[in-house]
Amino acid sequence: MSITIMSRFPYPENPALTDAPLLDPIKRRWSPLAFSSDSIEPEKIDALFEAARWTQSSRNEQPWRIIYATKDDPENFDRLASFLTEDNAYAKQAFLLFMVCAFPTFPNYKNKPNRMHQYDTGAAIQSLIIQAVSMGLITHQMSGFDKERPYTALDIPADVPLMAMVAIGYPGDERTIDPERLKERYHEHQQREATGSRVFKGKWKK
Ligand SMILES: Cc1cc2nc3c(=O)[nH]c(=O)nc-3n(C[C@H](O)[C@H](O)[C@H](O)COP(=O)(O)O)c2cc1C
Repeated sequence: MSITIMSRFPYPENPALTDAPLLDPIKRRWSPLAFSSDSIEPEKIDALFEAARWTQSSRNEQPWRIIYATKDDPENFDRLASFLTEDNAYAKQAFLLFMVCAFPTFPNYKNKPNRMHQYDTGAAIQSLIIQAVSMGLITHQMSGFDKERPYTALDIPADVPLMAMVAIGYPGDERTIDPERLKERYHEHQQREATGSRVFKGKWKK
């Protein structure tokens, strides 16, 4: 009897060169290009959306809306994948793809405008991403996608802004990626401005 052992590519380590010790998934998170099409266990997918669910939000209105598809559901997956720009075609290999939208009003508070809808949505996606990395998955957020077609194709209400698309999966074969682009991606992740140019003690610093 032959036993098939699933061989997976290792997590593509590119750890942040931090000035302070950080939680492991924050340090290890980056946006790789090579995805495997291996399926993600359903309980891990549940955990991703559960991490988003437990994110804090203004008035606890949870304004994020996520439309997802997995590769084993080609009709829905191919529809989502079709919105990606050519530059983001690498993400079509991932097992999980989703569109993130931000609901712009407070349904539970007289439908008043929610100034925090995009802020809260970004926070939820960050929770989800950190959860993903902690489970050995790689993630890549993308703003490069068609901004019109998803409204009709996915039945998204016209007043709901599209925020980003996100690809999540197990690490793939980096030999499928153009070596120059791959090198540049590894390098770009390490580029960060100094904390002092973004974080000000007491008052804004010019
Ligand atoms: C909102 C958002 C949109 C992005 N859009 C794209 C994109 O369209 N294509 C892409 O390859 N990377 C995209 N990125 C990835 C960024 O280029 C990347 O996060 C940044 O260079 C920092 O690198 P790191 O995530 O590896 O730390 C996006 C990231 C964010 C957060």
